[in-house]
Amino acid sequence: MRLTLTSDLWWKNAVIYCLDVETYKDGNDDGIGDFRGLTQQIDYLAGLGVTCLWLMPFFPTPNRDDGYDITDFYTIDPRLGTLGDFVEFMRTAKDRGMRVIADLVVNHTSDQHPWFVEARSSKTSPKRDWYVWADKPEPDNPDQVVFPDKEDSIWQYDGSTRQYYLHSFYRHQPDLNVGNPEVRDEIVRILGFWMELGLSGFRVDAVPFLIENVDPKLAEPHEFLADLRAFMTRREGSSVLLGEVNVPYKDLVAYFGEGLGDQLTMCFDFISMQRTWLALARGEAQPLAEALKSRPKPPKDCQWAMFLRNHDELTLDKLTDEEREEVFQAFGPEKDMQIYGRGLRRRLPTMFGGDMRRIKMAYSLMFSLPGTPVVFYGEEIGLGENLGAEGRMAVRIPMQWSKDGGFSQVEPVREVPDGPFAPDRVNVADQKRDTESLLRWFQLLIERYRECPELAWGEYTVLDTGHPAVFAHRADADGATVVAVHNLGETAQDVRLKLPGLSGRQLTDLLVDGTVKVSDKDVAEVPLGPHGCRWLRVSDPEVPPEDASVKAK
Ligand code: GLC
Ligand code: CA
Repeated sequence: MRLTLTSDLWWKNAVIYCLDVETYKDGNDDGIGDFRGLTQQIDYLAGLGVTCLWLMPFFPTPNRDDGYDITDFYTIDPRLGTLGDFVEFMRTAKDRGMRVIADLVVNHTSDQHPWFVEARSSKTSPKRDWYVWADKPEPDNPDQVVFPDKEDSIWQYDGSTRQYYLHSFYRHQPDLNVGNPEVRDEIVRILGFWMELGLSGFRVDAVPFLIENVDPKLAEPHEFLADLRAFMTRREGSSVLLGEVNVPYKDLVAYFGEGLGDQLTMCFDFISMQRTWLALARGEAQPLAEALKSRPKPPKDCQWAMFLRNHDELTLDKLTDEEREEVFQAFGPEKDMQIYGRGLRRRLPTMFGGDMRRIKMAYSLMFSLPGTPVVFYGEEIGLGENLGAEGRMAVRIPMQWSKDGGFSQVEPVREVPDGPFAPDRVNVADQKRDTESLLRWFQLLIERYRECPELAWGEYTVLDTGHPAVFAHRADADGATVVAVHNLGETAQDVRLKLPGLSGRQLTDLLVDGTVKVSDKDVAEVPLGPHGCRWLRVSDPEVPPEDASVKAK
């Protein structure tokens, strides 16, 4: 593949790693992770092959939504360090060739943010219009309530000024009024501030909620996203916006800036993520195959971000009730594993009962799918969860570095799991020494993913495998081709793949030793073990030495 200029579009085949500074590594022995601790682990991340870190919110916060409730956008939560520590961390990441993006949470602030304190002090406060107020709000539509365990409305009455304020999330997170030009200017200032400190972009939190507050009579809501992107591009051409946009594909294209690609650079692919879980639950490729076939092509230079788990609940909101129930039954049958009636608060390995073959296959599938993979910290070692923690906090446990935990010299503020996923069973140090470990598997997948840019960049085609359990696709770019085949089922299968245009060529396995010939009828017979996975690079068959000498004559 011609790679001229492709490194400019670094996000197209980046390996993004999401972490929370608070749970990664404690550098000053107070039981809370911090920037000094994280900086010590940069070489680990570089060794894994990560090219971009996504930091979850690290700003001052009363921590009622794990930092997604901010009281100051312009500095660091003192528990995590100082701006000085942050700059040292940025320098180290840059030195190891890693970019850094951070959560941009500007749909709302904490109710303790000085802006809101001022806004609610009187109806005539200069900050009043920075938030969204109503004398008598429209009746609630229950679908609008994101956290139905804690809230039953998106409006909260403010007794002292006798108006309601809007909160799309918890009541302590009042929505900013991005219809107000002053608020929009301030958001741009926040972007500019962190870009000056070296960030390559942002993971934009809750995008549909963010722009829905723009009054269409005043401005076109999507124009706001285009303005943000234009500002960033003016300042730094290679900066990106990666959006959290969990909406159906048909509505999603607007967030890239339909046709133009001038809004979000990347969007998480929530649809194929959910369909992958349904496919895994059934041991059938079809739900995923259908999703990828119906997925719109992002505008030029834009990209999909692929993931299986993130820091929130595994949301299954875009499945039908029956489909969701199937996934619940397969991966989280107990009520305590479920949340908000739409998701699961577990990590992947526990959902697979620790079955390493299945876990490895699932991640192989994720890395092979067309888009940019996003890993949630700890996935590379098969970190479990702590169901004893509240709600979504179950999956946000301390990273496990060694048998004794290794996260902190003192007792961590957050509990680690016990049993088969406890630190003495699941940790980085042991897996580094074990060539069969999940950590080594991740390293291999990442290395191969980076060597096969066609997976991320190419035109992809979902292939007919003749076996319901087997998902296969090919990716073509600039005359180079990779074929990936995944057996979601637990019985071995031999699949016949029709590969137009590849007759007489050879498929070389990139994950394990082995080759497969493509017949002169464009057919390849690919054997797969239970939960087997193969990444096959198309090449010309090696010519045996005698033939070579004949040819030379
Ligand atoms: C996003 C975040 C989630 C947070 C919410 C409110 O959905 O991923 O963790 O609670 O926004 O900021
Ligand atoms: Ca600390």
